[in-house]
Amino acid sequence: MPVAVRISGSSTSNRAEAASRRAASNSASEGLQKMGYNVAIVGATGNVGREMLTILEELNFPVDTMHAIASRKSKGMDVAWGDKTIKCQDIEAFDFSTVDIVLMSAGGDVSRAWSEKIGKLGPVVIDNSSAFRKDPDVPLIVPEVNPDAVKLVSRKNIVANPNCSTAQLVVALKPLHDAAKIKRCVVATYQSVSGAGKEGMDELWTQTKAIYGLGDARPKKFPKQIAFNVIPYIGSFNEDGYTDEEAKMWDETHKMLDPDIKLTVTCVRVPVFVGHSEAVTVEFDRPISPDEARAILREAPGILVVDKQEHDGYITPVDAAGEHAVYVSRIRKDHTVENGLVFWVVSDNLRKGAALNAVQIAQLLDETGTIKPKSGYRTLTV
Ligand SMILES: NC(=O)c1ccc[n+]([C@@H]2O[C@H](COP(=O)([O-])OP(=O)(O)OC[C@H]3O[C@@H](n4cnc5c(N)ncnc54)[C@H](OP(=O)(O)O)[C@@H]3O)[C@@H](O)[C@H]2O)c1
Repeated sequence: MPVAVRISGSSTSNRAEAASRRAASNSASEGLQKMGYNVAIVGATGNVGREMLTILEELNFPVDTMHAIASRKSKGMDVAWGDKTIKCQDIEAFDFSTVDIVLMSAGGDVSRAWSEKIGKLGPVVIDNSSAFRKDPDVPLIVPEVNPDAVKLVSRKNIVANPNCSTAQLVVALKPLHDAAKIKRCVVATYQSVSGAGKEGMDELWTQTKAIYGLGDARPKKFPKQIAFNVIPYIGSFNEDGYTDEEAKMWDETHKMLDPDIKLTVTCVRVPVFVGHSEAVTVEFDRPISPDEARAILREAPGILVVDKQEHDGYITPVDAAGEHAVYVSRIRKDHTVENGLVFWVVSDNLRKGAALNAVQIAQLLDETGTIKPKSGYRTLTV
């Protein structure tokens, strides 16, 4: 099923485009227009929740009413929504039967406690946690990769959003896999601290200041010092010595792209605030040159290729932060295998790795008619 994945340039220009689209739609002539959706964001005070609010506006997703939901401690807190602020509500007191879509971004425990209950009340839950990603009755979707999985949504009214590192990886792998089957893939990630939520960002900030100022730099959120360091451990250990973060990457790639791709991963936390990077080595079933790969990736949805063999001709996480694209750089031949390529993939983990993908799923649900606003249609007489 072809799907238009709408990415564009910087977040500043995204906001300007959103404003001009709103102005254009306000001047629409008389006719029948679909109402917007009633949307609730659970985790609206968090890193991902705040990005969701921004991106829904940037992409001009049709929202009639927005509800910001978080834990009881955030009740009454102001959250920015467009040019207004809305008050945060306590999840325990909110009536989810009044909304069409719930963007759930408050961790696995909250999702396990709430998502199925909410789905039974009617709204579709787009869940950012890992709680339902492996559930065969819950589609796991990256719209550039497997939009057809949307047909499974009605089973539980839940759609899962993948892990941040998997999302950017499969966007880059999919068009190459379509051109030449991927047999084996080796990935090392360089994951920013925002992937560990607000507390992760705070720890890098306070530790960096403490080390410069001879303060207390003892780790709290991360298992070892993250400032001026790298940590080859994210999540928790599985019995085989891999971490659950590493296992998520192959489980999710198998569910969305192809169960036959052999994938091995090392996940590493690095002292970067926003933007995950990945060194990716791929072995194909036929020869594929760097030039052919560049041409394929340039045509692929959601990807920008920045690959000049100059001292600054590649993308870093600082360049990708606040952007929508998955960037691919440093495409070159792997001389150690017959049909191998090596490349570098970078994206904003809070955007394509979480909030942007969730909003793209909401667009997919809308465009495929999988959801319809409860409030139906209104007559425009402007
Ligand atoms: N960060 C990433 O790159 C990334 C990528 C993909 C997926 N995710 C997933 O997205 C989710 C959120 O991540 P994040 O980075 O935004 O975390 P975060 O910055 O720590 O924010 C957590 C949010 O969850 C809310 N929350 C916590 N306990 C709650 C409860 N009992 N009831 C209602 N709300 C509750 C918090 O509200 P209070 O402020 O009231 O505590 C806050 O709004 C996680 O499942 C994470 O795994 C994150």
